[in-house]
Amino acid sequence: MPDGEIARTLISEQEIRTMVQDLGLRITRHYRQTGGDLLVVGLLKGAFVFMADLIRTIEYPLSVDFLAVSSYSDSTLSSGEVKVRMDIQASLQDRHILLVEDIVDTGITFEKVIGMIQGRNPRSLKTCALLSKPSRREVSVPIDFCGRDIPDEFVCGYGLDYAEKFRNLPYIGVLEMSGV
Ligand code: IMP
Ligand code: MG
Repeated sequence: MPDGEIARTLISEQEIRTMVQDLGLRITRHYRQTGGDLLVVGLLKGAFVFMADLIRTIEYPLSVDFLAVSSYSDSTLSSGEVKVRMDIQASLQDRHILLVEDIVDTGITFEKVIGMIQGRNPRSLKTCALLSKPSRREVSVPIDFCGRDIPDEFVCGYGLDYAEKFRNLPYIGVLEMSGV
């Protein structure tokens, strides 16, 4: 596998903070209007950093749970296959579910997970993604709360990885491949 390194910053720490605060505000407003029991479900591993910050900007009582799926096997290309590695522990029945994802690329992962959650009879399902690459979409998926669209570039940092690396970067950078 070729080595990857961060070529440049795409979204700075400060810009991320603003995006997350804005999402939190919109989500707060929505659930204050809706009312009821809210469960925020994060997709591991990519969403864990974003979700930790996001829930602290939501001013509405909530619980958290996680779901681990794998669609990329240490590569920047999607295999198109989605496997559940760790299922949600909580019951979704009659609860408002907010699904949190780091980035929606082809949409294949999101589509599969949305279908799985819908099958468990939640009271409602809304989706939130920090980033979206609309030009890469293969299946159409709803993103109710989207941080920002980005061009077709592979990004890392703030939870997002390349081959499990770079998740700890506090900003989002563009990966440049060497040796390809
Ligand atoms: P999708 O099924 O093609 O939409 O892929 C979604 C998953 O691919 C995300 O949850 C990420 O883990 C991963 N992914 C897609 N694009 C990127 C990227 O630019 N950087 C890091 N991970 C990505
Ligand atoms: Mg990933």
